[in-house]
Amino acid sequence: MLFIANWKMNPTSLKQAQKLNKNIKDKLKKINKEKKAKVIICPPTIFLSKLFQKNKLIQYGVQNICFEERGAYTGEISVLMAKDQGANYSIIGHSERKQIAGEDNYTISQKVNLCLANNIKPILCVGENLQEKNHAKTGLVIREQLQIALKNVKINDIEKIIIAYEPVWAISSQDNARPGTPDSILGASIIIRKELLNLYNHDVATNIPVIYGGSVSKDNVLDYSGNSNLNGFLIGSASLNAFDFSQIIEKYIQSAQKQT
Ligand code: 13P
Repeated sequence: MLFIANWKMNPTSLKQAQKLNKNIKDKLKKINKEKKAKVIICPPTIFLSKLFQKNKLIQYGVQNICFEERGAYTGEISVLMAKDQGANYSIIGHSERKQIAGEDNYTISQKVNLCLANNIKPILCVGENLQEKNHAKTGLVIREQLQIALKNVKINDIEKIIIAYEPVWAISSQDNARPGTPDSILGASIIIRKELLNLYNHDVATNIPVIYGGSVSKDNVLDYSGNSNLNGFLIGSASLNAFDFSQIIEKYIQSAQKQT
C-alpha cells in the first residue's frame, strides 16, 4: 500500500520540516516494521536535499517539475535537479498546479515523459472539478486526462506510473470540500482501470497502482478499505501532522491484514 504525503507549501521553515520528517520516521519505525506500507514524502523542493537520507522507511518526491529539462525558465525546477537532490517520484498535474499555473493536459504529458526519461516515477493526478461532477462528466474528464497524459508513454514505461484520483471538489483547501464517498471512489477507480485496459492491456489495467486523494483523514480512511481497486492514498493536510499521518497508515494496514 502506498501512502504519499503532499506537503504542498508547508511547513514554512526547514526546522519545522526536519521535525515533521523525523516525527513521521519515528512513528513508522513502530508501525511499519513489516514494511506493509510504502511511504513517500513530497516536501517543498527547497527542503528536499536537507530531508533526503537513503533509508528503508521513507522515499522522497517533488510536487512538480518544469516541462523542460534545462534552460532559461526563471523560478522553475528541472527534473534533473530533483533527481540529483534525492527525488525518486514527482507529483504531476496536481489540480492546484492547473489552477495556479494553468497547466493543461499537454504540459502534463510532457512532464510525465520527462520523468520517465530521467528515472523519476510520476504520480499522475487526474480528477474532475465540481462543475464537471455536477454535469456527470467524471468519466469523460478522467478518460481525456489519461489519454493525453499517457499518449507517448510506451508499454514498457507505464508500470513506473502511479495514478492518483484526486477529485478537485474533495481537496480540503476547496470551499465546502468533502471526502469522496467510497462508491464514487470505487466508480472512478474502475473508470481509470478500464481506460488503462483500452490504452494498454489487461496486465497494465490490473497492476498499475491507483490511489485516492481528497480530505483523507485518520477518521475516514477505513471507509475506503473495501475497495480492492485502490492501492493507497495521496494525503495533503493530514500529512502535516505526524500522528494523524501515521494513524492513517496504521489503521489501514491493520484493517488490510484482518481482511487477508
Ligand atoms: P487534502 O488531503 O488536504 O485534501 O489534499 C489532497 C491533495 O491535494 C493531495 O495531493
